[in-house]
Amino acid sequence: MENVTIISHPLIQHKISILRDKKTGTNEFRSLIEEIAMLMGYEALRDLPVEDVQVETPIETCMTPMIAGKKLAVVPILRAGLGMVNGILALVPSAKVGHIGLYRDEKTHEPHEYYCKLPTPIELRTIVVTDPMLATGGSAVAAVDFIKQHGGRNIKFMSIIAAPEGVKRLQEAHPDIQLYIGHLDRCLNENAYICPGLGDAGDRIFGTR
Ligand code: PRP
Ligand code: URA
Repeated sequence: MENVTIISHPLIQHKISILRDKKTGTNEFRSLIEEIAMLMGYEALRDLPVEDVQVETPIETCMTPMIAGKKLAVVPILRAGLGMVNGILALVPSAKVGHIGLYRDEKTHEPHEYYCKLPTPIELRTIVVTDPMLATGGSAVAAVDFIKQHGGRNIKFMSIIAAPEGVKRLQEAHPDIQLYIGHLDRCLNENAYICPGLGDAGDRIFGTR
């Protein structure tokens, strides 16, 4: 699969297995989502541009690389994507944060937008969209559509668990974006939930329902 990276590090796989367990409570679930996002972010950001700057060490002056360009934009898809933001900010504390509010209609499973606010100038930033679940791909496609409508170009999409259906739909709609996933699960069920998945990510992060 072109432009798809499955980050199969043992630490990520171990933490995903704990997430899946229905006995894992809200507190631990929230911490794990953040830790996994940080581990995935380390890999997803390995191609960030750098430029040499002059630094004076206690020994001598040298040219040494630092992250170049406009600050990174992290854009969570509300609600569940919010849980991943602090993991990325732990790596890049100066990143800007945008928000895209989408919810899936329970019957049609189609996404509905209720909020969109992105840092400017979005066209000059590397953008990391976060959502722990890529199921039908409807929310992901809609979120990337919005970002592109606002001028965003360099887009990375990070999802902890993905279904093959969602990966295919996102790739077909937006073949230019980089997709990073923690685990590719088997399929969707009749309610468009990922199997085996972890249930409703938003509810498990925020302790609702
Ligand atoms: C979940 C999840 C994704 C979406 C994935 O959000 O966080 O955004 O479903 O499904 P899809 O790939 O089929 O679009 P949900 O709509 O349940 O909203 P919530 O985060 O507010 O609970
Ligand atoms: N959204 C979730 O939170 N979980 C799924 O399995 C599918 C969509």
